[in-house]
Amino acid sequence: MTNTASVRWHPQPDEASLNAFIAQQIAALATQCIVQKKAFHIVLAGGNTPRKIYTALRTIKTDWSCWHIYFGDERCVPMDSTERNDNMASEAWLSHVAIPKAQIHRMRVGELSASDAAAQYTKTLHEVGTFDLVLLGVGEDGHTASLFPNHEWGETDDAPSVIFVEYAPFAPHQRLTLSAQRLSNTQHLWYVVSGNKKTNALQRWQQGERLPMSVIQPKNGVDVFVAP
Ligand code: 6PG
Repeated sequence: MTNTASVRWHPQPDEASLNAFIAQQIAALATQCIVQKKAFHIVLAGGNTPRKIYTALRTIKTDWSCWHIYFGDERCVPMDSTERNDNMASEAWLSHVAIPKAQIHRMRVGELSASDAAAQYTKTLHEVGTFDLVLLGVGEDGHTASLFPNHEWGETDDAPSVIFVEYAPFAPHQRLTLSAQRLSNTQHLWYVVSGNKKTNALQRWQQGERLPMSVIQPKNGVDVFVAP
């Protein structure tokens, strides 16, 4: 079933305002979660859009020892590859702050087989339960994380938490991705989208086309932050 009812749209004037706003919102939510339960569980998006947001997070005032980092998807390439989302986040942000290494949960695909890495990540996620925040981007073709149109999305209740994508339309073709069901298990889910090239995908979603974004349905709905 597609669902556009619980999607809240937040247009931003430009990319710089979007980045500054999201960095500030992440910091505020982290503070709230840390005050309440001494922990903040966040799932990071890959791609280029979040890079400047991650850089801005280096300088926020927070208790980094309470942060727990997860990744929404990862490319099946060696652990030191610059094509990996975890290495992008590390270079932009994570290696510059004092989050304990054991709390940065990388997908071990690249040193383990895809199925072993998926099994290990599934176990890690099982221990987490509901995320505090999931960040996602949107691709020009309407994909999010590594859930691509006309592929498997794992939106049913009994779907696996982690899916091995063998034939992604873009290189690297092999990926691991959290399923729609697992991405939906979060208090907050924010899409961060910038650039006019994404307009068509967003319109298709708004018009009710069945896309991965339309089956990711956290109980509190989703927020979409968009800049031209
Ligand atoms: C990835 C992503 C992917 C990304 C979109 C948008 O690993 O590539 O997680 O879903 O968020 O493709 O990417 P850009 O920000 O580069 O446009």
